[in-house]
Parts: sequence; structure tokens; C-alpha cells
Amino acid sequence: MSDAAESHDQGPEPTQTNLAVARPIVKDLAIAAEEVSYWFGEGDARTQVLFDNSLQIGRGEVVIMTGPSGSGKTTLLTLIGALRRIQHGRISVMGRDVGALGEADAVALRTNIGFIFQSHNLFTSLTAMENVRMATALKRGSIREMNDRCAGLLGRLGLSERLDHLPAQLSGGQRQRVAIARALVNSPGLVLADEPTAALDAESGRVVLELLRQLADGPARTTVLIVTHDQRVIDHADRVVNMIGGRIVANTMTRTAVRIARALAQSEILKGLSEATLTRIANVMTVETREAGQTIVREGEPGDRYYLIGSGVAVASREGHYQDELYYGEGFGRITSFFGRLVEQTVSAKTEMELYVLSEPDFRRVLEADKSFESRVRSLLMAMNPAQ
Ligand SMILES: Nc1ncnc2c1ncn2[C@@H]1O[C@H](COP(=O)(O)OP(=O)(O)OP(=O)(O)O)[C@@H](O)[C@H]1O
Ligand SMILES: [Mg+2]
Repeated sequence: MSDAAESHDQGPEPTQTNLAVARPIVKDLAIAAEEVSYWFGEGDARTQVLFDNSLQIGRGEVVIMTGPSGSGKTTLLTLIGALRRIQHGRISVMGRDVGALGEADAVALRTNIGFIFQSHNLFTSLTAMENVRMATALKRGSIREMNDRCAGLLGRLGLSERLDHLPAQLSGGQRQRVAIARALVNSPGLVLADEPTAALDAESGRVVLELLRQLADGPARTTVLIVTHDQRVIDHADRVVNMIGGRIVANTMTRTAVRIARALAQSEILKGLSEATLTRIANVMTVETREAGQTIVREGEPGDRYYLIGSGVAVASREGHYQDELYYGEGFGRITSFFGRLVEQTVSAKTEMELYVLSEPDFRRVLEADKSFESRVRSLLMAMNPAQ
């Protein structure tokens, strides 16, 4: 379980799927590309392969890039990774202007990026373990600690029996997993992955995606950009960027975020907010499920979460008396530290439910980033406390 799955709940343990845990708030960008173009070749042979691409990716987001072969995905990825000279446009990565970096700074930036590329470039004379261990050479920590960390990661990737094998003694998929362990062992701030699961069977592919999702949801809030055609990856992503003929043609949320945005649009409080605002809120909400009979919030208690019903039915009561049934698109709970009021109703799941949850820190972040949401909340507060 990732750190994000920590329970804030009253009542039995909820199950949480991390499908929509995203942090794409503009203030905290990991990647900002502006009008990036790129040409290969010289003179008459000079061919443009990227055309004015702009892309923003927030810290902790998992973004997939798809598109036909030759559409420019790898080229864009290598530009973002400071592996290629920027010819036109600007790219900033984790706060550094990539085009303006000297070689030493570019090297420093690249050491904080985990590259998972198609050609994995393992050292042929080093074992699986030594290949991963190499990556930790510059990190502080005892030898024992580093060895444990490398062996642990290789173990999670199903290679505990292969630590002492040379690359030549490993299958293509196993070599790929060694390369993935090497890219992730230092918990980089950014992971750039080009078809990371292509050579992997379903189970190893799943483990790799879970690892990436956990890095993104964990304290490091690693940003992950994955080029892939693998449909399974979409369930672990916050956003899908589609590229055709050197141009980003779509930059959309995954199905889960779309589902949340639709439910938000039904909500009485949020009705009428712009699509951009709803999208922003949807992107920071997480999905949780509850069994029938579970209490979700309790009257009179402080709370730090706002819930929106995605499916199922809830029952609200006050002072032990039945009040109301709540359905799809209706919200409850309260971010009490902000609104200055305790939770007003006890709400329990009547059926199995899917809930979309906005936590206090994310609520504040959306508030800061979006004026229209802020003024909506302000008028709500006025209506609640007319004396203020
Ligand atoms: N070194 C190079 N020299 C000349 N042209 C290149 C070079 N590398 C790539 N190209 C061209 O640039 C375009 C974009 O290539 P890129 O590798 O970025 O595509 P891609 O979307 O990653 O494709 P794939 O899905 O097949 O990996 C293609 O038309 C390709 O032929
Ligand atoms: Mg490619």
C-alpha cells in the first residue's frame, strides 16, 4: 500500500484505488514544455519532426504518451531528459531551464531522472545486482543499506534468484527489469520511460506499473512520463497525451478522472463551475469504495475530507434520526478546519459505494490555484455564516 492510502477514516478500513491520485496543480510543475520544435538532419535533408508542442506535467502525476510509430514520442522524451540539444522552444524540468544548462548541470539534472529506455545498456561484464548497485555509487548510505535496497528492488521485480547473473544469462524481459530497478533505485524526481512494459509478461508489467504509481504517490512524489501502447498502463495513469505527426493532438484525463468530473458537475455546490475548474478538482480527488453498512463520517466530529458519491446510496442521520438518502453527485463531509464547523450528519453506506474524496491539503491547493473555485467557496461560507 502506498502512503496515500493511509486511512483517515472512521469505521472499518476502506479500500482505496489510486486511479485518480494526481497533483497537476500549476504551481508545482515538474515539466513545462513551451512551443518545442525539433528537426533532424542538415541542409536539404533537414526534416521537422516536432511542431510547437506545449505540455505541462505536475509533480507526482503519472502521464502516458501514446501515438503512432514515428510521431515523435521518443524525440520529445529525450529532449525533456536533457539528452538532446533544444533547438526551438523552452523546456523546464524540475525547475531547471534545460536549454540553458551547461554540461555539468545537465549531468546533475540527469542523475535525478530515472531513464527506462528501449535499449537498456546494461554493463555486460557486471551481474544484475552490480548493474543496479552502480547507480547508487554516488548516494550516501552504508554499503549494507545500499545492497539491501538494490536486492529488495530486484526481488520485487521477481529477480531474487538472478542477482548474480550476467546480462547475457538473462532473458530480454529480465534484462529490462534490471534496467528498471537501476532507473528507480535512487527514487528519482522524474521517471522517463519508453515502452517499459513492452518486453514484459502481464505479471511483471503489473509490478512495474505499481512501483511507478507508488513512487508518484509516495513522499518523493515522483513524476512519471511513460511512452506506451500498452492499454493496461492507462488504469495507472492520471492523464493521456496523444501525439500524431510531431504534434500533441490530445491531452486528456483518464476515464476515472472523467467519471469524477461528471459527478462533480452534478453537485449542487459546484454546478456551473467551468470545465477547467471541475477537471482540476477531479484530478486531485481519489477513489475509495465502501461496503454496505460502513459509517463514512460521524456527526459532531472534526473532518478533513469532502466526499462525492460516484455510485451507490448513502443514508444521512442526525441525532440518531434518519434524515435523507444521498445519491450520485451528492456530496457530504466537511473540511472542518476550513469551514469552522464540525461534521453535521452521520453518513453511512446503504449499499456498496464508490466515493470521490477531496482531502484538506488538496482542497487548499485547488483553492489557491483556481480563482473561480475560491470565490465559489467564499460565497458558500457567506451563506453559511451570514453574520461574517
Ligand atoms: N537520428 C535520427 N535521424 C533522423 N531522423 C530521425 C532520427 N531519429 C528519429 N528520426 C525521425 O523522427 C521522427 C520521430 O521519431 P521518434 O523516434 O521520436 O518517433 P516515436 O514516436 O518514438 O516512434 P516509435 O513509436 O516507433 O518509437 C521519425 O520520423 C523518425 O524517422
Ligand atoms: Mg520511440
